[in-house]
Formats: sequence, C-alpha cells, structure tokens
Amino acid sequence: MKPCDFALNVGVGKMPMEQLDVGSGRSKSGAVCLTVQDGEGVSTTVRAECGQTLLEAALGGGVPLPFGCRAGDCGVCKCEVLEGEVDEGWADPLALPSHERTQRRVLACTSILRGPVTVRVNNLDRVAPRLATMRVVAHERRTADVVVFRAAAEHERIVPFLPGQYVKLTLPTGAIRAFSIANEPGMPHLEFHVRRKPNGWASQYVYDRLRVGDDVGIAGPFGNAVLRNDCRPIIGVCGGTGYAPLRSILHHALAAQSERLFRLYWFVRGPKDVYDEASLRRLGAVHKSFSLTVLTSPEAGSADGGVAQLLAHCRAHGPITGPVYAAGPTRMVTAVRKTMLLAGLPEDEFHADPFGDQQ
Ligand SMILES: Cc1cc2nc3c(=O)[nH]c(=O)nc-3n(C[C@H](O)[C@H](O)[C@H](O)COP(=O)(O)OP(=O)(O)OC[C@H]3O[C@@H](n4cnc5c(N)ncnc54)[C@H](O)[C@@H]3O)c2cc1C
Ligand code: FES
Repeated sequence: MKPCDFALNVGVGKMPMEQLDVGSGRSKSGAVCLTVQDGEGVSTTVRAECGQTLLEAALGGGVPLPFGCRAGDCGVCKCEVLEGEVDEGWADPLALPSHERTQRRVLACTSILRGPVTVRVNNLDRVAPRLATMRVVAHERRTADVVVFRAAAEHERIVPFLPGQYVKLTLPTGAIRAFSIANEPGMPHLEFHVRRKPNGWASQYVYDRLRVGDDVGIAGPFGNAVLRNDCRPIIGVCGGTGYAPLRSILHHALAAQSERLFRLYWFVRGPKDVYDEASLRRLGAVHKSFSLTVLTSPEAGSADGGVAQLLAHCRAHGPITGPVYAAGPTRMVTAVRKTMLLAGLPEDEFHADPFGDQQ
C-alpha cells in the first residue's frame, strides 16, 4: 500500500493526523485512508473509519462523490477500486451488472470500508462548492403546489455552476434541502422550482412563507448530471419539479447550439402541472429542433405505467443511443434508467441526480 498523502485535505476528517500511520494507511482505533482519484488522475485523501460506507467517508471528508438513492438502486455512486478491499453491499443488478463487479466496480453507498482504499470516480463534481448568502428577489406560486423563486447574491455576484447541478439551500428556519438550479449559468440570480409536499417541512415553508427580501444560505453547486460538451441529440426526462435541472440544461444547450435536437418528456399528474408552458412554447417557436411531450402519470411525479409510453415515443425516432438526462423522484428516475438500459442505451449515456424517494 502506498503511503498516505494528506497534502490536499489536511485537517479534514475525524481523527487527529498524528494517530494515523501514514505508511500503512491505518490507525490503532480503526481510522484508515480513503483516496479518491478523479477522471483526470487528481487524488484527494481523507481520513475515514472502518465500518463507514465509501460514500459516507468521502462526503464526511469533503469529497463531493456523486450519489442518488443511497440504497444500491440507481448506480449514480459507482466507482472503481484501484487499491485495497471493501465489503460490497447490496446492488441492483442493473445498477451494477456482474461484468462490472469483476472489473472491481462497486457502489459507494453500500460498500463498507475495511482498510485503506483508493477508488477512481470519473464524474466528480467539477465546480468547487462554496457557501453564499442570497436574497430572495422573486417568488411566484405557479400552481396549487409549485412555487418558482429566484435568489440573488450581493452586488449581483454570479454563482458558478454547470447546467443540471443543484445546491443545498438553508432556509430562514434552519432547514437544509437540496434544490436544483433551473436557469442558465452566468446570470445574477439562481432560479428554483419547489413542489409543496403534504407534510413536507421545507417545501411547505418555501411555498407558504418564504418572501421577497428573505435571506437563504446556499452551499454548492453539487451534482454530476450536467450537460456534456457535444452536439448529439438529447433526450430529457423529468417528473414534476424535476423539470428544473432539465430547464437549465435545455436553455444552455439551445443557447450554445440553436439547432441541437432536444426532446423533452415531462411526467405530470395532469395538464395543470405543466407550470412553465408559456416559456416552453416560446422556446419551441424559436428552436424548431426542440419538442415537448407531456406524459400523464396517475401518481404525482411517478412514472409508473408511463415508462412504456415514453419508450415507444423515443423508439419512434430510432435507436436510443444517448445522451439521456433525467431528473425527479428516485422511483421515476430508476424506472426510466432501467427501461432505457434494457432498450440498449449505454450506461454512461444516462445522467441523473435523483431527488429522493419521498417526492
Ligand atoms: C439532488 C436533489 C435535487 C432536488 N431538487 C429539487 C427541486 O428542484 N425541486 C423540488 O421540489 N425538490 C427537489 N428535491 C427534493 C427536496 O430536496 C426535498 O426533499 C423536498 O422538497 C421535500 O422536502 P420537505 O422538507 O418538504 O419534506 P420532508 O419534511 O423532508 O418530508 C419528505 C416527505 O416525507 C413525508 N413525510 C414527512 N414526515 C413523514 C412521516 N412521519 N411519515 C410519513 N411520511 C412523512 C412528507 O409528506 C414528504 O412527502 C431535490 C432533492 C435532491 C436530492
Ligand atoms: S446506488 Fe448508490 S446512490 Fe444510488
């Protein structure tokens, strides 16, 4: 095992550095080195505890490993073990096929650290996360349960992010929740679309009580389901307010390449849920290469029963080769992912940071 190099992350982690034997990567009390290498070969080493999942250890050490379901279902947290061993936990066979297991791929959210480990993650967050305080400058209830609000930083400072990313927002109540950014990068504000959930602490506050002039905290950006740099046709699939990150990707993609083929599929409970129709119509009038298909699903934001319909629509345009960007409830994203992969989409062409199970 190579010596443990803390140069990039001194002071991060739970163990005082002197208790760790940098030669073996272990300490007497169970602390070990976790080294995460990104796609360009840049390594970050953090201190972790045996018994933690790879994901807990990385996030605890400040390494923004991508994740979605945290339960072995979605495959977003996949990484490759370069050195050392982990106890592999449960993994959905579509999230981690057996041939990938033999290539030492593991799911960070269910794999347990037993000693020092080095992993490679090709899709580490690319814009360094930062903290900022922003002021709410617009707040508009678009439907009976969706609010669109904008927040701006002091002196119109621009917060850098990539289309498709999200931030962790601290509300005036102290509650912290992830919300995707719905506008294009480079603007002096961030736009958020929030669905008010029955019994949802934060989303109810945002819908009912957040006001223009309130301050909110921002940490981020995070997320790896970001627009890739190429000019191939895009399929976007969203459920409910999963439209927000797709909107950012859509506007940015068409601003860069106005003729780029972009087919957006939006799962909603009914026509009233299409809360950005006017702006989408305007976009469609300017960019003939853009199309919107609204698919109704009986359950809010869920794709149950609608995925077959989606597949039929996509296949009508030829083989599904990618890229596909998806956002919304984890159940919907997982169903769409499985269906697309079974239909032949290469795994690395599916990009999603699911919202969680409770949408
Ligand atoms: C990467 C990412 C991006 C996201 N982006 C967006 C976005 O752009 N827009 C958006 O609207 N959301 C987004 N979310 C989801 C968002 O972060 C919140 O999870 C969501 O708003 C719900 O938060 P809440 O505090 O209102 O609900 P919570 O209070 O956290 O409750 C969540 C759900 O659990 C239910 N619940 C609560 N307590 C109980 C209980 N005791 N028993 C049974 N059920 C219960 C509630 O009814 C609710 O449906 C994103 C999530 C992630 C991970
Ligand atoms: S499989 Fe690990 S976050 Fe979904």
